[in-house]
Amino acid sequence: MPVISFANSKGGSGKSTSALVIACELAEAADVILIDADPRRPLAAWADLSDPPARLRVISSGGERTIQDEIDQAAAEVPFVLVDLEGMASQLATFAMSASDLVIVPAQEQHQDAQAAIDTLGAVKRAGRAARREIPAAVLLTRTRAAVKSRTARHIGEQLRGLEGVHVIDSELVERDAFAALFSSGGGLRQLDPREVNGIDKAIANASAISEEVIAILRRKQGAAA
Ligand SMILES: Nc1ncnc2c1ncn2[C@@H]1O[C@H](COP(=O)(O)OP(=O)(O)OP(=O)(O)O)[C@@H](O)[C@H]1O
Ligand SMILES: [Mg+2]
Repeated sequence: MPVISFANSKGGSGKSTSALVIACELAEAADVILIDADPRRPLAAWADLSDPPARLRVISSGGERTIQDEIDQAAAEVPFVLVDLEGMASQLATFAMSASDLVIVPAQEQHQDAQAAIDTLGAVKRAGRAARREIPAAVLLTRTRAAVKSRTARHIGEQLRGLEGVHVIDSELVERDAFAALFSSGGGLRQLDPREVNGIDKAIANASAISEEVIAILRRKQGAAA
């Protein structure tokens, strides 16, 4: 049922990684469809590397003409639909946002990412206005340092959290080998080989904390809408 899109007009902000990590985590307990709506197909390529987790299916979008049908059909089939968008503003992204119950805006703690995150939140708001409803959105900080943050990183996080009407997810997608390794090995975090990749347990704990928070946001929004 819930549809979650991952959008940020800045390339490399962590959209595909966040979408994949959250999709795998949700697929531990529910059926999930992950729609790869990036023409470069990073997630379809991931799914070709090795078998995805049993309850996760990846489909490639046919583009802006078909995305709305693809989302509707997927939402009728499974409890969670996630949509990974390409790193630029597009009609396709607007259509996907308009069909979403939550737009997650991944952003690194860097000036350009934060600016693009604010632009993207504006695009979500406009898509909501056109659709005559409020589309919930939340920023997810990505590739953050597990230990001590730099002053710039801290400042950017504080700035985003201080903006009125902007929700920043408390948990952050920390910079970890395990998250990057997913795209070269295929499968989910639990399928990674601990002899080859460090810190898998910590990555799983991180993924699970983020997913729980995402579910809590969806529940709150559902409650508010009811
Ligand atoms: N938490 C993380 N830990 C380690 N590496 C990460 C993490 N998040 C992202 N990366 C790496 O950063 C790069 C960009 O991430 P990703 O592909 O998820 O960004 P994107 O927003 O989807 O990019 P694009 O706009 O090109 O689609 C990738 O090489 C990815 O492996
Ligand atoms: Mg991507």
